[in-house]
Amino acid sequence: MKSSNSCPSDVGRNPFVHELEFTVTEKIKIGLMSVTVFPVRLLFVSFFMLLAWPFAFTAAFGRSEFVIEPQSWWRRFVDLCLRVIMRAMWFCGGFHWIKVKGERAAPSEVPILTVAPHSSYFDAIPVTMTMCSIVAKLESRSVPVWGTLISYIRPVFVFRSDQNSRRKTVEEIKRRAQSGGQWPQIMIFPEGTCTNRSGLILFKAGAFIPGLPVQPVVLRYPNKLDTITWTWQGPGAFKILWLTLCQLHNPIEIEYLPVYTPSDEEKENPAVFASNIRKIMAKALNVPLLNFSFEDREIGFSKGPLQIYDYHSLLEFNQLVRSLGLRAGTTNKLLEDHARRARKLHADKLGLEGFAQFLDLPVTQALTQVHSLFDKHGDGQIDIRHYVIALSTVHQPSNSLKTLRLAFKMYESEENGEVLETELADILEIMLGLKEVELSRLFLALGRHDTGKIAYDELHHFIEQHPHFVRDYLDFKGEVSQPQSCNGHNHKKDQ
Ligand SMILES: *[C@@H]1O[C@H](CO)[C@@H](O)[C@H](O)[C@H]1NC(C)=O
Ligand SMILES: *[C@@H]1O[C@H](CO)[C@@H](O)[C@H](O)[C@H]1NC(C)=O
Repeated sequence: MKSSNSCPSDVGRNPFVHELEFTVTEKIKIGLMSVTVFPVRLLFVSFFMLLAWPFAFTAAFGRSEFVIEPQSWWRRFVDLCLRVIMRAMWFCGGFHWIKVKGERAAPSEVPILTVAPHSSYFDAIPVTMTMCSIVAKLESRSVPVWGTLISYIRPVFVFRSDQNSRRKTVEEIKRRAQSGGQWPQIMIFPEGTCTNRSGLILFKAGAFIPGLPVQPVVLRYPNKLDTITWTWQGPGAFKILWLTLCQLHNPIEIEYLPVYTPSDEEKENPAVFASNIRKIMAKALNVPLLNFSFEDREIGFSKGPLQIYDYHSLLEFNQLVRSLGLRAGTTNKLLEDHARRARKLHADKLGLEGFAQFLDLPVTQALTQVHSLFDKHGDGQIDIRHYVIALSTVHQPSNSLKTLRLAFKMYESEENGEVLETELADILEIMLGLKEVELSRLFLALGRHDTGKIAYDELHHFIEQHPHFVRDYLDFKGEVSQPQSCNGHNHKKDQ
């Protein structure tokens, strides 16, 4: 994993990062707990998990995936045993008392519970307390012991990569949700991945497509030292387990919010429904809305000397082109092809119609929005090369030199392959997500101040020699000086 500390202030805005730091006292505590409480707890936790296994295995044996069998006495008994065993397991893990606020609605009333923020495998606590179904990755079924426990609660399985399976998952959610309370309730983590709980990322639409009432559930882990968060960058699964078991007590709070019945507009439009529920949950949690989604996380992890400096505009762009269906089909070949066509257009500007033609798409609202992102002078005309650079940047956020090469192919002059200083500024503005990049310091350092032109190889070489290239040689204005989403940290650095 990367350890990029070249620009920590920028990297810090990624909700998929969990940086854990310990004070000396904490270190001593963890050291002491590691040799005393930890092994005992681990033993008990493992014991209870293994104890749960035969129950879950028996109950799930030979069950159909499509019909729900009548609740016989022994199934109820197994269910009760499992709940008790799981509660004992969490207790041994330091989750001594679990604070529950509000009340869970009946399955006949609300088929779907939307739970957020999703930040760890400890989020299984509300699931084992309620024995609700969940949406789970297919691979989780084959995890020893845990996989059997997961199968017991009849999850809706998804194959992450397969587009078709995603549709099937939504259909299955719909089918169960419309069963009128026959099936267990489904707990859905609509964020679709774990974050560090600093805000709510965008919700996936799956839980909202059936257009049925949902009950939002918010989770809180009000511990001082956050040993719970398990996200894309930061401590791994075992470290999280170890650190958590080394805490004397692990507080958790589950709050059931009031049931939300969608309006007609929300039934029609799951995205609006999802967005409104997200706002309610963010308010209950008192955290900001973050414009990231699971699919955007790569953008947050862009690396290298031309690491994206401000995600704001590129995130918006990425979400729009995804909604237009343009992201899935983006390949290096398509980018090359776009670049060739853009070069032929030279500096001819494209209006909305021309842009739609270039992409072979009808003029829609989303397309209009993409177009206006590049409308630099507000005259309804864009330079299509800017679009190609942005598409390449979101397609390969960590391969910025490839994007730079592609950009040069569109701009460089026939005779000596050079681009102008102003053109390079345009290119870098888009790649870094910045406004108004100034390159005179760079050109001075390159000894190119007189000509104001540069060729790719020379720049490439210079960037390789200067890993802090952006910080050391560019002057710029950020798109937003501070993330608007960070409550209370909006120090403007204008003067
Ligand atoms: C969590 O994500 C936010 C961005 O939303 C970031 O500013 C913060 O530093 C992250 N927290 C930790 C502990 O890494
Ligand atoms: C998030 O995106 C929406 C729509 O794209 C936009 O209106 C909003 O200002 C963005 N919020 C932040 C904090 O970037």
